[in-house]
Amino acid sequence: MPRVIKEARNGRSDALVIFGATGDLARKMIYPSLYQMVRRGNLNEPIVGVARDSWSVEKLVERARESIASSGDIDEATFTKFASLMRFVPGDYQDPTTFTRLQEALSDRRRVLYYLAIPPSMFASVTAGLKQANLSLGARLMVEKPFGRDLQSAQELNRVLHTVFKEDEIFRIDHYLGKEAIQNLLYFRFANSFLEPLWNRNYIDSVQITMAENFGVEGRGRFYEEVGALRDVVQNHLINVLLLLATEPPVNALSDDLIDEKVQVLKAIRPLEELDVVRGQFEGYRNEPGVAANSRVETFVAVRLFIDTWRWQGVPFYIRAGKNLPVRATEVVVRFKRPPLDVFDPIRPGEANYMRFRLGPEVAIGIGARRKANGGNMIGEAVELSAVSDGMDNLLPYERLIGDAMNGRRQLFTREDMAELAWQIVQPVLDSGTAPALYKPLTWGPREAMGGFEPVGGWVDPRT
Ligand code: BG6
Repeated sequence: MPRVIKEARNGRSDALVIFGATGDLARKMIYPSLYQMVRRGNLNEPIVGVARDSWSVEKLVERARESIASSGDIDEATFTKFASLMRFVPGDYQDPTTFTRLQEALSDRRRVLYYLAIPPSMFASVTAGLKQANLSLGARLMVEKPFGRDLQSAQELNRVLHTVFKEDEIFRIDHYLGKEAIQNLLYFRFANSFLEPLWNRNYIDSVQITMAENFGVEGRGRFYEEVGALRDVVQNHLINVLLLLATEPPVNALSDDLIDEKVQVLKAIRPLEELDVVRGQFEGYRNEPGVAANSRVETFVAVRLFIDTWRWQGVPFYIRAGKNLPVRATEVVVRFKRPPLDVFDPIRPGEANYMRFRLGPEVAIGIGARRKANGGNMIGEAVELSAVSDGMDNLLPYERLIGDAMNGRRQLFTREDMAELAWQIVQPVLDSGTAPALYKPLTWGPREAMGGFEPVGGWVDPRT
């Protein structure tokens, strides 16, 4: 019998308030997602934008229209409905009158979802303002990444948020967890029984996760200088992918049980050491606007992680991620051990015997196998059997996550202990001071430094 998804105790949020409503994140991600929610009939509550710019609501609606139009077609009837839900409260986050006006805009709303699409340095003023205006009671709080820049700052952010909100009212976003293909990792593992007997150190040789982007920092040099590849995508997105591959089956995937299982894995991951990290920087990065002429920030990183559990002991989990790599693709390759003997023709290391999960932009599951090639001899060839998803009309990641937060569903969000444990893993190699090795744009990172830093059988090129 299908499990019923339980709504949170205090039901669905009755309004959505976006701090940072005139910002980049709202323009690129939030408005197109809210529009899709309205189109599907999943959002009927007021949407209140708050920002320091003294715009009119009409200007905000116009901005939202532009951002929706740049990501697809607009249906006028849907847009009219969407626009009718929008309100705007301009004001400084440190000024108590901003919150008084927000209170008026919210009138009798009692279960508001506040979305902080603003830099973390402003979280404290906003949460304090909400509390003082008596707006935090019964509310939920959704916060954007980056959640801190190391263990200490994440702990401090948690402390700040907890002065006003309880942990089960806080929703820390990692948009990767809102992706259909990434949800499917979990689904595929635990909805099929053939995988489980093989899914452990006895049969799996290595796991590799690649997140390649064939573009640079796209004008975000200033942001990237503060972050680098390890903080930008490994500590959050890619460790989250690893957790879905490595977690034990939860008793109930639709509750905190799944988060508890992920936490067990996080606790068992050995903190990184320098010998398990390679850093690279693409040639030309230092000429990007906002980037220091002598920047040591990595635009490429590869790491090797070990999980000390019965299931995974000794199996290396490799992750590589970077800007200006040859292709845009995120994928996982789980490589099984070679058959014990070559009964027929010799099998090359790394050939066949793998599962591939293509997570984006194309979405597919593939099984790499060898079969007999046509002909008189027992000679084989490698093939990949794949199930490709058409991805038509999938929920956008932010659409899924905003909807879940409004309904109080926490499974796709990062709990306090998860955020801190993930920082603990990367903490020893943050800010190492080692200069990253340079690599040519559109290559697979620094060639020399990467020499030998690979799973047995090598890295798999997502284009193959
Ligand atoms: C963001 C990073 O979190 O994720 C970006 O800050 C990165 O640097 C982006 O490009 C990738 O997300 P997606 O959904 O395009 O794979």
